[in-house]
Amino acid sequence: MKIEALNILLVDDNPADARLIRETLTDSGAGALFNITEARTLKQAVKEAASANYDIILLDLTLPETSGMDTFLKVYETAPSTPVVVLTGLDDETMAAKAVRAGAQDYLVKGQADSHMLVRAIRFALERKRRTEERGARKLRSESMAHAQEERADLRMISASKSFKEVEEMVRTVAQTSNTSVLIQGETGTGKGLVANAIHFASNRRTHPFIEINCSAIPDTLLETEMFGYEKGAFTDAKQTKKGLFELADGGTVFLDEIGDMDMRMQPKLLKFLESRTFRKIGGTKDIKIDLRVIAATNRDLETLVSESRFREDLYYRLKVMVINLPPLRERKDDILPLARYFITTYESSLGVVKKLSPDCLPILMGYDWPGNVREVKNAMERATILSGSDDILPAHLPEELLRTSLAQTPVVDPSADMTLKEVEREHIKRVLATVNGNKSAASKILGISRLTLRKKLQDLDVPDVNDT
Ligand SMILES: Nc1ncnc2c1ncn2[C@@H]1O[C@H](COP(=O)(O)OP(=O)(O)OP(=O)(O)O)[C@@H](O)[C@H]1O
Ligand SMILES: [Mg+2]
Repeated sequence: MKIEALNILLVDDNPADARLIRETLTDSGAGALFNITEARTLKQAVKEAASANYDIILLDLTLPETSGMDTFLKVYETAPSTPVVVLTGLDDETMAAKAVRAGAQDYLVKGQADSHMLVRAIRFALERKRRTEERGARKLRSESMAHAQEERADLRMISASKSFKEVEEMVRTVAQTSNTSVLIQGETGTGKGLVANAIHFASNRRTHPFIEINCSAIPDTLLETEMFGYEKGAFTDAKQTKKGLFELADGGTVFLDEIGDMDMRMQPKLLKFLESRTFRKIGGTKDIKIDLRVIAATNRDLETLVSESRFREDLYYRLKVMVINLPPLRERKDDILPLARYFITTYESSLGVVKKLSPDCLPILMGYDWPGNVREVKNAMERATILSGSDDILPAHLPEELLRTSLAQTPVVDPSADMTLKEVEREHIKRVLATVNGNKSAASKILGISRLTLRKKLQDLDVPDVNDT
């Protein structure tokens, strides 16, 4: 289970109302957790609800084509497993009762519902859905072994360089121990999430849950609730006791991503858990013991955060028992081409064509720094596979940054040469065209001129015309 932004479908024909609801949600402080799509008509709402997997639908009942229960039923029947919260201008008790009986999670009246009520309605609706799913998940537990196998297919780790082979070795060693905390450090896109998954699925916890909590995506005030859960009555909204993600992960692994962003107030609570393996729900009086491995990851330098008093030193040492450092791709260049080829095969399998990287691409890929690391290679190869259509992958299909870097590595003009401006221009254009295999669109982008201007310059400078692409 991942904590990601909630996908909300907001159905309201009145743009001003929709904006107000959007703002209300954003103002609630939980805004970062919401990803809102709007629909104005019943037709759009039904189409959206049918095509995408929304976590929740906020539904106005009076739309241009329909009103009242008809609206509710059409949307509800399109996506029966998605909770619907009615949010309408009609303050009508009978209608509210009808809607709730028919399956609405809540009925709120616009103008009366403040951000607090709205967020609470959403949380309750999701909580109910989660509980229903949990019941389903328990049934599925016995099948989780098969599921784990399936997930592992996505866990292919490419390692050609010496330093990444060491990382793989470390993953195997760490997987043997099943209680030790692990700290994974590395720049963005170096594979921290992948490594955390790999540790879990190689360990004897693999048949239990792997739960990812992104500390930077969850507002500080919600993190404790999400991690530890709460007892009924712990705060105004706590109408029911709720299990936190730690408890749900019992037996498995919790992956605390972006641990460097964890709030200072939350850190001692995590430390206490790591030391005693027990925790308390918010508002709870008894210690709950669970069996978990914690893997934490960060792309920030925790030591610096400690020296700036933004991360607790005791927690740092507690997490640091086993450290896996993922080197940036520029420091393990031997992985670049195997990764690129691997990603091409993953995309081509969906397109049904066998593609190769043309030899001209190799120095370009090797000469680039890859600040976005493996993720950047993955995205570049996805793009190139699409752009190249039925051809092999040529330099022109690579992202502009790569081509620019490649050009920058060879000087434009021989400094000793005595050239006119026109000659310099001519040489430069020829060089750029050669880099992109004569592709004029790609060349004009790099040169910062329009295709038309390039065409004209080619004529004026008398550059032999390569095939017109
Ligand atoms: N060695 C590898 N072999 C194959 N795929 C990899 C490898 N390393 C990373 N990937 C893939 O690259 C992408 C980025 O990796 P991942 O999300 O694990 O990085 P991250 O370090 O967690 O990044 P961030 O800091 O941005 O969260 C993922 O799709 C992952 O599967
Ligand atoms: Mg990650």
